[in-house]
Amino acid sequence: MSDLGVAVWGAGWVSGEHVKAWEAVPNCRVVAIGSRKEASARKVAAATGVDARIYADEVPERAYERMLQDPDVNVVSICTPNHLHAREGIWAAQAGKHFCIEKPIAINLEELRQLRDAVRQAQVKTVVSFVLRWNPLFETIKALLAQNAIGRIFYAEVDYWHGIGDWYSGWEWVTKKSSGASAFLTGGCHAVDAIRWFVGSDITEVAAYSTRCGQDYEYDPNVVAAVKFASGAIGKLSASFECQMPYSFNIDLLGSHGTIRGNKLYSKTLLPGQTDFAEIPTVLPDSGDVSHHPFKGEMAHFAECIRRNCESHCNVEDAYKTHEVCIAVDRSVATGQPVSLPLA
Ligand SMILES: NC(=O)c1ccc[n+]([C@@H]2O[C@H](COP(=O)([O-])OP(=O)(O)OC[C@H]3O[C@@H](n4cnc5c(N)ncnc54)[C@H](OP(=O)(O)O)[C@@H]3O)[C@@H](O)[C@H]2O)c1
Repeated sequence: MSDLGVAVWGAGWVSGEHVKAWEAVPNCRVVAIGSRKEASARKVAAATGVDARIYADEVPERAYERMLQDPDVNVVSICTPNHLHAREGIWAAQAGKHFCIEKPIAINLEELRQLRDAVRQAQVKTVVSFVLRWNPLFETIKALLAQNAIGRIFYAEVDYWHGIGDWYSGWEWVTKKSSGASAFLTGGCHAVDAIRWFVGSDITEVAAYSTRCGQDYEYDPNVVAAVKFASGAIGKLSASFECQMPYSFNIDLLGSHGTIRGNKLYSKTLLPGQTDFAEIPTVLPDSGDVSHHPFKGEMAHFAECIRRNCESHCNVEDAYKTHEVCIAVDRSVATGQPVSLPLA
């Protein structure tokens, strides 16, 4: 089996985890690391101990273009700030490179559609870094749902509560509308992806409200949305960047025959004699630190998709729907009206 050559683009906080994850996948090796600043790319290479070609330029697009032309590069991992993702994904597709792309994949509907269309046209493989899909609690919940542990889900809640402050390396760009975009596009998208992944039905309507506590952000960093699903289920999603507490990713799924609350299960079908919630020991999505995120599982899955020539369950086509929901939430906040999906 020939090696997959990987290029990691954008050398900041998350990129080192991408490098380490790719290096841990058999028959994959990181052959290039690129960024705006050469020193940043070299720092990630040194920290991960990878002997990769370095691509950097004061005009970052030039370095990216050169990197895409590197014949040893089969796959690109896009780790730059939010507002750069869509166009970098489009260029990767046009260069015929498979790509892993950090969330959000786009920060407005126009570029979201352009990215989806470019991937469709180029027929490259993609994975979007909704990395929690490889978290052990997520895998446990999916396995329970596949065994009909709680029956038909009629109500669901997922919250992304991540107190972000100036400790964050991306603080400057994440607080701005032009680069961070919104609370749902930046972080709440993880909650949208999770609720879609668990409920297994498209969201057809959202009604959302937002608020702010301080003045750090150009957009309201706390948002709550009520949602309706095509299946008839209803739900609630929220994102808060101003919460003063440890990182929390709450998952509540209420079904016709049982309930899942994080790692707690109440199941009339699997455990008919049960009198209280059973707690499942597992790795929880309880840290915002990128070193805790299961990137290895994500990259191993994606390498397998490329080798087998099959689509990831977490590709750009699927993430399109998650991002459409985030954009609908932002529109609902802006207009004070419910917004129907898919967006016109
Ligand atoms: N999936 C997850 O759970 C997860 C977790 C964390 C972050 N993320 C996402 O990953 C992305 C990166 O986040 P981060 O936390 O790593 O941010 P970060 O620490 O700010 O890193 C971004 C890097 O991109 C480089 N950069 C900035 N502008 C650039 C440009 N015009 N062209 C090329 N490179 C440029 C910068 O490197 P220079 O030093 O070279 O300027 C910067 O270090 C974000 O979209 C974020 O939402 C996802």
